[in-house]
Amino acid sequence: MFLWRRESLAQAIATRIATQELDWLLQEMADLDALSLRLESFRDREKISLNCSFPELKLLWECRIQDRVPVQYLAGITTWRNFKLKVSSGVLIPRPETELIIEIAQQAILPKSSDSHWVDLGTGTGAIALGLATSFPQAKIHAVDSSTAALAIAKENAQLTKLQNRITFYSGIWWQPLSHLEGKVTGMVSNPPYIPTKELPTLQPEVFQHEPYLALDGGDDGLDAIRHLVQTAPKYLISGGIWLIEMMAGQGENVVAMLTEQGDYRDIQIIRDLSQIERFVLAYRI
Ligand SMILES: C[S@@+](CC[C@H](N)C(=O)[O-])C[C@H]1O[C@@H](n2cnc3c(N)ncnc32)[C@H](O)[C@@H]1O
Repeated sequence: MFLWRRESLAQAIATRIATQELDWLLQEMADLDALSLRLESFRDREKISLNCSFPELKLLWECRIQDRVPVQYLAGITTWRNFKLKVSSGVLIPRPETELIIEIAQQAILPKSSDSHWVDLGTGTGAIALGLATSFPQAKIHAVDSSTAALAIAKENAQLTKLQNRITFYSGIWWQPLSHLEGKVTGMVSNPPYIPTKELPTLQPEVFQHEPYLALDGGDDGLDAIRHLVQTAPKYLISGGIWLIEMMAGQGENVVAMLTEQGDYRDIQIIRDLSQIERFVLAYRI
């Protein structure tokens, strides 16, 4: 194990993959912790337990190096906020920058309502729905995705985090399965696909070759899904309810223009992420 790790670290450096990824994989697949890896104190251990065979572990790392498979897919898990979530190649790996969307929802000025409904449109792993469920303990959370693979993972994650009784999952297209919530929704939160189709092949191979196209492709200008959510949300949101999405750098001005033109929104604002990139748009239903 010691020698293999040394060789694999060298491989990672040569192929411009962060060496931390190997140690993260080892922590997930073996009974090794960050300190013993950093100090290499496991060198003298007689036995290291693995979740798989050693040849299988080597094969996983080969897939990382040769095929550029994201390490989270190899381990089958990722961390997001305080959750450890299951992931598979059918679902987008939730990104650290998306974590902030939950704080933005929490800090929004919300109408008082005892029976509040929140929706996560395009739930993927269920990450945002789970974050909303813990942030709004009295609310009912509704999570929609048109991908059956994603929904299956999202339901598993709700079970794993013991939040399954707080979230209802729906298979369908954006608001389509939620007609019973017309005029009742306190908050719509969504991280929809927003990459312009032409830009997809320029993304890192980890993303373009391995993450689901449905989760990435935002149409010609990247704004197809966002445009749809601008037009459709007013029918569902209560007065004072929030419309909150994640977007790509450079899309903010267009999104603000669409919301303004639609006419049912007020207090429209662009919010930056922790790297100071314009990442979110928040608006309130008039
Ligand atoms: C960028 S991913 C976001 C996943 C997750 N919310 C997150 O933040 O990690 C977009 C999600 O929208 C879903 N999606 C794409 N088109 C959709 C549609 N027309 N209706 C519902 N969901 C859709 C995809 O399957 C994918 O899970």
